[in-house]
Amino acid sequence: MSKPDKRTVRIALLPGDGIGPEVMAAGRKLCETIGAKNNIVFQYDEFKIGGAAIDAFGVPLRPDDLAKIRECDAVILAAVGGPKWDTGAANLRPEAGLLGLRKGLNVFANLRPAKIFPELIDASRLKPEQAKSVDLIIFRELTGGVYFGEPRGKSGEAGGREAWNTMRYTESEIRRIAKMAFEAARGRRKRVTSVDKANVLEVSQLWRDIVTDEHRHYSDVELLHLYVDNAAMQLVRNPGQFDVILTENLFGDILSDLCAELVGSIGLLPSASLGAQSPGLYEPVHGSAPDIAGKGMANPLAMFLSIAMMCRYSLNLPDAAERIERAVATALKAGARTADLGGDLGTNDMTEQVLRHFNRKG
Ligand code: NAD
Ligand code: IPM
Ligand code: MN
Repeated sequence: MSKPDKRTVRIALLPGDGIGPEVMAAGRKLCETIGAKNNIVFQYDEFKIGGAAIDAFGVPLRPDDLAKIRECDAVILAAVGGPKWDTGAANLRPEAGLLGLRKGLNVFANLRPAKIFPELIDASRLKPEQAKSVDLIIFRELTGGVYFGEPRGKSGEAGGREAWNTMRYTESEIRRIAKMAFEAARGRRKRVTSVDKANVLEVSQLWRDIVTDEHRHYSDVELLHLYVDNAAMQLVRNPGQFDVILTENLFGDILSDLCAELVGSIGLLPSASLGAQSPGLYEPVHGSAPDIAGKGMANPLAMFLSIAMMCRYSLNLPDAAERIERAVATALKAGARTADLGGDLGTNDMTEQVLRHFNRKG
């Protein structure tokens, strides 16, 4: 009998800036290992984004590159940005490349899980009783809100300048992310907390109306509403009350960094950005960390856990996803720690530890 053909998977790699290329190199090693174990050939297409693309091409993401990225099976982005490019016009900053990528792929749902590893209870800022209960996922709307609303701009001369942005959502934008959050809750602890600022913002009043209306189809799921200021406090006070958090773009950005300190480090938090017809986009929650870039000390675990999400949501490899998550947990259990977790392993050594556990029999 002839051997079955190897499956080929096309992955777009966008290393970006700062620690981006460092954690991307680690992620690529993990992909190679996944491929070897699952009879898959990963074909990589690498693209410049962010500051790297500004330096090379004068723009943070070339339209032709976006078109090619769209043709891939999945997209991995490491991080963009840095002080070198902070003074440019808004549409010529590294971050505009990332926002253009998200919009261009129409990945409107950004899933940001935060779950404590029992081995890292000491690394959390919380008292152990609270730390051990952290197991939540943020459904952050990713292609709307104040990030993209028009009009936006700046005018005037020094001393009299003015600047404005617009927070805007349509019913359908709210409904499609609400649906996804309710569906996800059915596979978890069946509780959705919708976070808004409906005591002040009309956009949030619409958000609350639509989420409440959509909830009619999910009566088996509990729905609660919190104002975002209270939600930030409750996350620190009693994180165990949260299962699925459903929120708009800017609030989700802020609350997800807060969650980093609940689980121990921003270097642990993965994300998946999903849409209806486009390849999924997988990116750590953290940024380009200019303060540690080039030092070989970035924590690669957020990247690894993002690749686990890619295996689960885009590649139909749930076993590989679980194997990655187990390898990360086992490495942590064995005491492997990068500097952000109080240890002394560099990116390469941490990567080796995780790959060793990934490759173990069983
Ligand atoms: P950041 O996440 O880059 O860094 C915040 C702190 O966390 C720093 O002290 C950094 O050293 C640490 N940190 C981050 N990732 C780490 C890792 N993997 N291992 C160990 N420590 C890590 O946030 P910032 O400093 O506010 O932003 C720096 C740049 O990154 C900015 O230009 C910002 O716009 C950009 N940014 C990009 C993304 C992205 O590409 N998805 C996300 C956030 C911020
Ligand atoms: C994130 C980042 C981005 C965001 C920036 C870099 C545009 O902070 O992914 O959390 O605000 O969405
Ligand atoms: Mn952020």
